[in-house]
Amino acid sequence: MNINKMLPSDTFKNKVVLITGGGTGLGKSIGHHLLGLGAKLIITSRKKEVIEKTANEFNKEYPDSTLFVAGDVREIDDVENVINMGFVKFGKIDMLINNAAGNFISPTERLSTNAFSVIIDIVLKGTCNFTITLGKKWIKDKIDGNILNIATTYAMTGSGYVVPSAAAKGGVLTFTKSIAAEWAKYNIRCNAVAPGPFPTKGAWSRLVPPGFSKFIDLKKRVPLKRVGEHAELANLCSYLLSDYSAYITGEIITIDGGEWIYNAGQFSRLDKIPSKLWSLIEKTIRKKNK
Ligand code: HXC
Ligand code: NAP
Repeated sequence: MNINKMLPSDTFKNKVVLITGGGTGLGKSIGHHLLGLGAKLIITSRKKEVIEKTANEFNKEYPDSTLFVAGDVREIDDVENVINMGFVKFGKIDMLINNAAGNFISPTERLSTNAFSVIIDIVLKGTCNFTITLGKKWIKDKIDGNILNIATTYAMTGSGYVVPSAAAKGGVLTFTKSIAAEWAKYNIRCNAVAPGPFPTKGAWSRLVPPGFSKFIDLKKRVPLKRVGEHAELANLCSYLLSDYSAYITGEIITIDGGEWIYNAGQFSRLDKIPSKLWSLIEKTIRKKNK
């Protein structure tokens, strides 16, 4: 599919966006999309060499556009350092994308308490750490801020085998709505997106290991019969970060090709019934009506 940017190319002119986990996967794709709309970026994650490589690619295409600062979203000193370095480089930060995450599939009874905590700390506490640290600055300096949290669909439905992630992402959704309600008075918006399957190395290596597709084929669960394109998610994120969505806050927008609604609906799988059989079924039901 060839998906273009849906917003004007100067939408984020003079805007600075901080993206956690911005060196890889969806964070990288969203960042690249925002650069094409005029934004400056601060990208952060633990692996300095990874974000440095991404920043070099970005700066080659969009000169002096991207700052990388290594840090762990769980460590408040790192979080403060990333934000401070961003202010030193660009003089301000307008938007925050809480995208960093940790996850892997495992039966919950096999998890150590540390394994559970690590996921909660990266996903939920990491989101809170960045939001609260930057939010305090925005409130003090009377800056209109905008926060976008990257959740998942199972944050709403729950899911076995990714229980710490589901619990943490569920917390992120409640955090999103709560912060939106409280900080609207400061002109700070906070929304979330809930993506379905968008293939990335980070997610697929931990959630769909080799040979695993015989147990679960993510594409087959999607009624639109395909996984998501990164550009589709990036378009949605750019809309939620832009002034075009200025009246939207506290919302969670699902982008999953109908995956969760289809699999939740009791009768959705009746689409497997051939139309000839429907004639017989209809006849049988109509008979009962009489
Ligand atoms: C059981 C495991 C495990 C596994 C790690 N642990 N892997 N337990 N099964 N497969 C345990 C460890 O033994 C340890 O517990 C604890 O978890 C922490 O592991 P570390 O390796 O020390 O942690 P760390 O180096 O901080 O790495 C964090 C991580 C790793 C989450 C474990 O996977 C990571 O760095 N992930 C970042 C990227 C990522 O996950 N991306 C995917 C996002 S996809 P003990 O008790 O031994 O100390 C996503 C949604 C996708 O979020 C939805 C798709 C549809
Ligand atoms: P990814 O490439 O593995 O992205 C995760 C990023 O988080 C990495 O860049 C990683 O970098 C960073 N990170 C992990 N722990 C960190 C920590 N403690 N501190 C700072 N950064 C940390 O996977 P992805 O698929 O693009 O996922 C991006 C987001 O989309 C996540 O929030 C995920 O839950 C969400 N999501 C993905 C899908 C999908 O289908 N791909 C679906 C739904 C939701 P370092 O290792 O360098 O720290």
